[in-house]
Amino acid sequence: SLRLTMQTRPEHAEVEGIPLAKTTCDMWDQIWRFKARPDDLLICTYPKAGTTWVQEIVDMIQQHGDVEKCRRAPCYTRVPFIDLAPPKPLPSGLEEAEAMPSPRTLKSHLPIQLIPPSFRDQNCKVIYVARNAKDIMVSYYYFQKMNKGLMEPGSWSEYFDAFQNGKVPWGSWYDHVKGWWDAKDSQRILYIFYEDLKEDLRGEILKLAQFMEQELSEELLEKVIQHTTFQAMKENPMVNYTTLPSFIFDQSVSPFMRKGAVGDWKNHFTVAQNESFDREYEKRMSGTSLRFRTEL
Ligand code: A3P
Repeated sequence: SLRLTMQTRPEHAEVEGIPLAKTTCDMWDQIWRFKARPDDLLICTYPKAGTTWVQEIVDMIQQHGDVEKCRRAPCYTRVPFIDLAPPKPLPSGLEEAEAMPSPRTLKSHLPIQLIPPSFRDQNCKVIYVARNAKDIMVSYYYFQKMNKGLMEPGSWSEYFDAFQNGKVPWGSWYDHVKGWWDAKDSQRILYIFYEDLKEDLRGEILKLAQFMEQELSEELLEKVIQHTTFQAMKENPMVNYTTLPSFIFDQSVSPFMRKGAVGDWKNHFTVAQNESFDREYEKRMSGTSLRFRTEL
């Protein structure tokens, strides 16, 4: 029956102007009332920013480099996704989180104004991962094609407009990255960048470990690096989502571990799209100190 349900793309609705799967909107009251625990660690991102990558780094640090322990379950079981409500009979991320013993690591794609207030009340640590909009747009386009749980992206040119107008699941990239940026100094938020992970994985792992208050020996650090390179993760069924059936993630359309690069947008943006993007970007980002790199 799930296979049948997944034959058509699910409906989307909105919460405070943010497009979300209708199944998520339908249980919004419950999500908003979610009870965080003080030792919860929340990994929050705009989709395609490197969520899975950071989830695996965090788990490797928590498991002290024990690769077998990190293989205990797929990443989506180890880290409940609180704003995901797949069609029945699959459990919602919320139910999975509630059933999980502490300490929990949780995932969300929500913009900061929609994060359940309990996370702030409990002063939970949050790792926010950001990635430049051009690469996100390309990555998200392919992801919406292959993920049958999201709305159809349409053509690349239609998608370009939808993305710029925030008419994609979880809304505007601009508002998302800026909203979290503005909160980072007044809350326990570690704000990191995909481009920095690509450039200096070692340095960023050390930053993450320090935020998690975990010591990393040179040997352990080396293990985390080896286990979380793009190639290692592409080949690891516990993080590459090949454990999901193809009627949910159709990896013949586009693999979850697609390119793993900075600058792939250059293979997709036309010159005109790039000019239009840069004009719009300058307007939308004029009031912020937040800076992204679109190439390394
Ligand atoms: P691409 O589609 O550009 O390849 P998320 O986990 O937030 O959905 O992000 C997925 C994106 O992160 C994909 O980007 C994926 O390839 C990339 N990614 C995942 N693991 C990675 C790693 N270890 N190194 C580099 N990129 C990685």
